[in-house]
Amino acid sequence: MKKDILKQLKNNFIIYTENNKKTLNLKNSIKNIKKLYLNKKNFFIIIKKFEKDPNKIISKTIKFSKLFGKPLSQNKHGQKFVLVKPNTKLLKKKLKNKNIKLRYHQTNIGGAIHSDGPQLYSPPKYVIMACLNQAKQGGDSIIVSTNKIYRYLKKNNKKILNVLKDRFYFERRGFRFSNNNIFKKAIFENSYNNFRFRYLREYIEAGHNIKKSALSPKIINAMNTLDELLNKKKFQTKYRLNEGDIIILNNDYLAHGRSGFKLNNKGPQRSLLRIWIR
Ligand SMILES: [Fe+2]
Repeated sequence: MKKDILKQLKNNFIIYTENNKKTLNLKNSIKNIKKLYLNKKNFFIIIKKFEKDPNKIISKTIKFSKLFGKPLSQNKHGQKFVLVKPNTKLLKKKLKNKNIKLRYHQTNIGGAIHSDGPQLYSPPKYVIMACLNQAKQGGDSIIVSTNKIYRYLKKNNKKILNVLKDRFYFERRGFRFSNNNIFKKAIFENSYNNFRFRYLREYIEAGHNIKKSALSPKIINAMNTLDELLNKKKFQTKYRLNEGDIIILNNDYLAHGRSGFKLNNKGPQRSLLRIWIR
C-alpha cells in the first residue's frame, strides 16, 4: 500500500517550514520528512496543494497519514478521522440559550492555544490536518514553538517553569475511561531528552474543579504567563491553509490554535480533517 500512495503522489511538493519554501521529493522520504522536519528545527511542514480534487482529499490524506504511524481514536466513539468544523445549529441555539456547551472544534472562535489529546497517557505524536474548506475571513492556523518557550522560561523565569513542570489534574474529556476520568500530568515534561508539552487549559480547570482542588494563585499566575507567551508573535508561525493543503505537526513540541473566523453565509463552512498519529 505504501508504494501505491507514493505512486499516486506527484514527485515534488512545495513545502513550507518556518520561513522558507522548499521543494520536497516525497518518494522514499517519509523517514526523511520525520528526521529533517518533524523531529527537529521547526517541527512542522505544510504541503501546498496536496490534492486539488475535493472528492479525493479525504481518502488521500488518510492513506498518506498511515505512512507516518498508527491513527488513534479521538473520542469515545473510536473515530480516527474527525472533521473539525463549526456546528452552526448549536451555535445558533447558543445565541438564545447561553447554557448550551460546545467544544472548541465545534465553534468559530479563535485563541485557546493548546496541544491535542492532552487527556491521553500518550498523546498523538503527530497531528495531521487537511483543509477541506476555508472560511472567507479568518481561520488562520497558529503554530507555537513550546520548545522555544521552555528555553525562554529556563533562562528568564525558572520559578514559573518549575510550577509548569508540576503535575495537574486533567479532565480526560471526550473518552470513556472506567473510573479514571481524571489523571495528573505535567504541562512541561523534559526528561531523558524526551520533551513533551501537554496543555489545554479548560481541561485542567475542569479537572481541578471535579477534584475540588482549587488552583492556587501561584498556579493561575503561571498559566496566565504561559498563555501570554503562547500568544507572543515571536514564538508563533501563522499560516492560512487553503483547500487541498495539509499540515503535519509534532504535537510534543508544538502547540496550535487558530484565529477566529466568520461563518460562511453560503456553501460549506470551514472544515479540516484531523488525524492523530502515534
Ligand atoms: Fe487542536
